[in-house]
Amino acid sequence: MSLLEIDRLRVVYPNGHEALRSVSLRAGRGEIVAVIGRSGAGKSTLLRCIAGLQRPTAGRIVLAGEDIVTAGPERLQVIHRQVGFIWQEYHLVERLSAFANVLIGRLGHNSSPASLLGYFNRHHRAVAARQLERVGLLEKARQRADRLSGGEKQRVAIARALAQEPVLLLADEPVASLDPELATQVLGDLSRIAREDGVLTLMNLHQVALARAFADRVVGIARGEVVYDGPPQGLDTLALERIYRFDRPAVEALEQGAETAHGR
Ligand SMILES: Nc1ncnc2c1ncn2[C@@H]1O[C@H](COP(=O)(O)OP(=O)(O)OP(=O)(O)O)[C@@H](O)[C@H]1O
Ligand SMILES: [Mg+2]
Repeated sequence: MSLLEIDRLRVVYPNGHEALRSVSLRAGRGEIVAVIGRSGAGKSTLLRCIAGLQRPTAGRIVLAGEDIVTAGPERLQVIHRQVGFIWQEYHLVERLSAFANVLIGRLGHNSSPASLLGYFNRHHRAVAARQLERVGLLEKARQRADRLSGGEKQRVAIARALAQEPVLLLADEPVASLDPELATQVLGDLSRIAREDGVLTLMNLHQVALARAFADRVVGIARGEVVYDGPPQGLDTLALERIYRFDRPAVEALEQGAETAHGR
């Protein structure tokens, strides 16, 4: 049994749009998986379903033997604790310090009622400090999140996700808001630490070069389906063409004038 098992996942949005057609994949502890595909391919939809933030129309998602799709609210809360999520736009609490933001990652482990008042014991504080240190931000621990640079913010978000001690790390375009050099550094930190900890990581990336540089495995999605699943070295022209090709039928329909200027 793999740590993460996804079977024939299908997502149809209320407006009838089928964002995921039938996605199946398995991934194990310690794998660093890059999910790539054109805009609108379904990458974020996939990650949101795995995070339990969105219920799929059909299919199964099993994490560590437990079905996320059918889990009740209480079990879902327990599963959530084991999944760290990193967003493109950081989602930090702006007026709190970097350190306090990382401590938020400990909330799921802190059963003390005092945690509601922001009290974390020595152990929780040590875990948070260690994670800040690993992303190279210990000296900014006391700085308010809204005064940090973009790269620093994302490092805090990574430290917060790691402070959860997750079994699964999900990152939706974690470096899309950073300049290329910073993107490389931050993704380098993220993948290095995930590897050290053996945390299964799925990250949506827009750039093939980043997927090649940092992932052990690449999953290419086109129009809601997996069209490539293999090592980065296997991403040849043909594979990239399958992942990024234009939507041929739609282009042909436009060329043939199937639609009028009035929209139908
Ligand atoms: N709530 C929604 N209702 C209807 N359609 C949606 C909804 N959310 C997403 N979609 C559509 O589903 C498809 C997949 O969206 P998704 O956000 O998963 O794509 P993506 O691969 O993450 O794209 P990007 O690279 O631009 O972030 C898109 O065509 C999008 O327009
Ligand atoms: Mg997206």
